[in-house]
Amino acid sequence: MSTFPEYRPRRLRRTETLRRLVRETTVSVDDLILPLFAAPGQKFRKPISSMPGVAQTSVDELLRDAAEAAELGVPAIILFGLPEYKDETGSSGEDPKGPVQRAIAAVKKEIPDLVVMTDVCMCEYTSHGHCGVVRDGYVQNDETLELLARQALSHAQAGADIVAPSDMMDGRVAAIRHALDDEGFSNVAILAYAAKFASAFYGPFREAAESTPQFGDRRSYQMDPANGDEAMREVFLDIEEGADIIMVKPAQTYLDLVYRVKQETGYPVAAYHVSGEYSMIMAAAERGWLDGDRAMEEALTSIKRAGADMILTYWARQFAKKRRK
Ligand code: PBG
Repeated sequence: MSTFPEYRPRRLRRTETLRRLVRETTVSVDDLILPLFAAPGQKFRKPISSMPGVAQTSVDELLRDAAEAAELGVPAIILFGLPEYKDETGSSGEDPKGPVQRAIAAVKKEIPDLVVMTDVCMCEYTSHGHCGVVRDGYVQNDETLELLARQALSHAQAGADIVAPSDMMDGRVAAIRHALDDEGFSNVAILAYAAKFASAFYGPFREAAESTPQFGDRRSYQMDPANGDEAMREVFLDIEEGADIIMVKPAQTYLDLVYRVKQETGYPVAAYHVSGEYSMIMAAAERGWLDGDRAMEEALTSIKRAGADMILTYWARQFAKKRRK
């Protein structure tokens, strides 16, 4: 046994206090962003069957969820919209009386310190469910830019702190930055969904946001899951165009990119633990196939360890409650 190596890694794993001392990564409630779905009406709360614990809510109900999150120490929410009407060009997306715009104003009035982010995209507002204007069966890039800029501006006018374009049109960050600056919103930040992949893991979200494309798919604008170098080009483009925070989405299946983006840019990095990633674990936990709480902790820790500064997660409140115990 004298040939046994000097270093025995197990020495520091003996007790929980030792493990705490050498732990390299901790997820904090400060890192979390809670997605919420704003719907029309009042006292409306419709649970999403494929996303346990997530619901569409009218603004009054959303305000309660936001207040609970803030009370638990969650620093930010991101809002998605379920509009009253949809059309070819998604015009309800820039309606100052739309559910997202009303939700922003309500939250900023009641809970001014809570950071309010908004998803900027057309798919929640278009009748065809695509993320831009469709002509000849193709999503038109440059025509869509103006609509995105107007939607982002309407969010800024309602009081949003950060707008987050998720459409994947080329040039949208610059278009939004210029529109915001021209109207005096130079302090509204842009969180760019920079490396956003055409992912099967968005499935449950499309039930929540009622945004399933009515034909085709999103592969002519969202990225091919096979491409890492191209994701970095997308990231550098968005930085040049003025992005303040860079997002990788989904998170768990793209941890290599979370790592690369942090290492290669040094920018604040957000990772979106998306609906499918959440629902897989929730469903397995419901069946008793795994320990849901531990899987949550491990999933979020892996994203932090890879280099994310912040995580968009449907678990934000659940995680904060667990930490409080
Ligand atoms: C809108 C958008 C989507 C998600 C966030 N913003 C859906 C999509 O691109 O189809 C997915 C979020 C999730 O799955 O939790 N474009």
